[in-house]
Amino acid sequence: MSNYHIKNLEEYFQVYRRSVRNPENFWEEIAEEHFLWRKKWDNVLSWDFTKPEVKWFEGAQLNITENCIDRHLVTRGDKTAILFEPNNPNEDAEHITYKELYKRVNQFANVLKDKGIKKGDRVCIYLPMIPELAISLLACARIGAIHSVVFAGFSSTALATRINDSECKMVITSDGSYRGAKTIDLKSIVDEALEDCPTITDVLVVKRIHSDITLKEGRDVWLQPLLDKASTECTAEIMNAEDPLFILYTSGSTGKPKGMLHTTAGYMVYTAYTFKNVFQYRGNDVYWCTADIGWITGHSYIVYGPLANGATTVMFEGVPSYPDYSRFWQIVEKHKVNQFYTAPTAIRALAKEGLSHVESNDLSSLKILGTVGEPINEEAWHWYDDNIGKRKSPIVDTWWQTETGGIMITPIPYSTPTKPTYATLPFIGIQPALMDAEGNEVKGNQVEGRLCIKFPWPSMARTIWGNHQRYKDTYFSSFENKYFTGDGALRDEVGYYRITGRVDDVIIVSGHNLGTAPIEDAINEHPAVAESAIVGYPHDIKGNALYGYVILKDTGESRNQENLRIEINQIITEQIGPIAKLDKIQFTQGLPKTRSGKIMRRILRKIASNDISNLGDTSTLLNPEVVQGIIDQVLV
Ligand code: PRX
Repeated sequence: MSNYHIKNLEEYFQVYRRSVRNPENFWEEIAEEHFLWRKKWDNVLSWDFTKPEVKWFEGAQLNITENCIDRHLVTRGDKTAILFEPNNPNEDAEHITYKELYKRVNQFANVLKDKGIKKGDRVCIYLPMIPELAISLLACARIGAIHSVVFAGFSSTALATRINDSECKMVITSDGSYRGAKTIDLKSIVDEALEDCPTITDVLVVKRIHSDITLKEGRDVWLQPLLDKASTECTAEIMNAEDPLFILYTSGSTGKPKGMLHTTAGYMVYTAYTFKNVFQYRGNDVYWCTADIGWITGHSYIVYGPLANGATTVMFEGVPSYPDYSRFWQIVEKHKVNQFYTAPTAIRALAKEGLSHVESNDLSSLKILGTVGEPINEEAWHWYDDNIGKRKSPIVDTWWQTETGGIMITPIPYSTPTKPTYATLPFIGIQPALMDAEGNEVKGNQVEGRLCIKFPWPSMARTIWGNHQRYKDTYFSSFENKYFTGDGALRDEVGYYRITGRVDDVIIVSGHNLGTAPIEDAINEHPAVAESAIVGYPHDIKGNALYGYVILKDTGESRNQENLRIEINQIITEQIGPIAKLDKIQFTQGLPKTRSGKIMRRILRKIASNDISNLGDTSTLLNPEVVQGIIDQVLV
């Protein structure tokens, strides 16, 4: 029997050792015993980080939806697969059983086929957190189409960029979405985006808010009538292990967003195995991850990982503050949630509102708490532990990335002793390394460095869609023969890892990855702006907030700075989305630059963080006088 379910620390160490001594053998056993294959692999792993090329389970054939749905029909067909909790607490929750999910996914898959979608075609999904979102991912996977989900908070420009980059044929969207007390007109965002998207031939529209929208003749169609007519049987497309499953865009420090490509078998095996162990899912547990399926957390740990284990996974449409700040805890009580997985930014926002929102609810069902997306500060960790877990539910601080597909560094709850702010130990099969600036591995404990991974794991992204060179440059060129994460980390005296944050120009705001370059490009489109630079600075709730330094064109006119700030944030909202808005904007005369013309963000970061006592050596700058000018402005 393979060690699919790890139950104590000794077992963790023993399995971990085996997984790194003989990875092929280890993953073969896991894959063999716990999944449904149409054909077994010829080779477990081939890899070469210099190309880079990684292949897991080559030669195997499968369909991930048969693993997430079909194989559960006999054993747990009447169990709830997806438990949908609507935005409005007075609207009934929906329990979609595995049997119902099977039918609904097949109907949806047949609609896609009728519209001409075939294996390998890209389908863009731009939907709120309603069941059709999860179902549309699975429907694409059923027929071998590659889904590209775009978070429904992104603007029309951001949506168009993503559609065009992967040349999607279809968009699946809705007439609108509910978000707390607000409704958002998603369809007009799609309409605007599609003015610029020549590859889109069809738009399927889900009716959610019953708003009055127009359908473009020959392109847009309501989904429900098509589903009603479609057969509930759809033979699963047989996929090769390395056939693409999905593309998901993530921000880089430069250039356009990167379409990370994930493939089928390795992704399935790793997300399922991590889900089982990191959340210790058993029996009829009810598991809830509050992320949006528009992010990797939702792909791996709302949809694929839980469903591959036959779990009940909650999907919540709303926001933590509606109708009031007790909503999360009301849902935990209502559905007797056992595992609860959220982001530090949500914990901090809820902690700020006080305990009265927590105390009115029965949280005794909770067994495991999780966090993801950004470093969790000590105060938030303890608040979560004391008030939500009542010091009985271990906190799993899970470190991973869109690129890694699944959780990489994490405690195994009830096995690994937790330590606030530490993601603790590498998951089974994961071989981290800390590197110094010279490219040497820093061995031993109580050390710090850049976090790399030395050996492939099954769910790693295989490339950036359409740009393999960029994949190589970004992840495999900084350190020889290693995947570079972009994060810094330290290892303590017992070998626990603590993620210290990004070491590149990516800023994590409220758990969302934002690259500086696209935001600066947006700001520079304002006619009054000559140049700009964005940095992050610490923020109580969001972890980091954005601070923009903006140089205006010298036109001789005087300008209302407050209006300019509003206009700049409007442009950012239009180009990217409200998540990328700046909290502070400082208009300056210049930006500190190196002699080669690169902006010295380190100095700007210190000024934005109010940490000007130790700016380091500024004498090598091209224009050292600019620094004092910026500081003087702040001090006024
Ligand atoms: O900087 C790390 C941070 O989030 C980055 C990955 O962001 P994204 O691709 O959007 O995926 C987020 C959800 C998996 C990482 O490079 N990060 C993620 N989890 C943690 C974290 N930082 C500290 N602690 C974590 N647990």
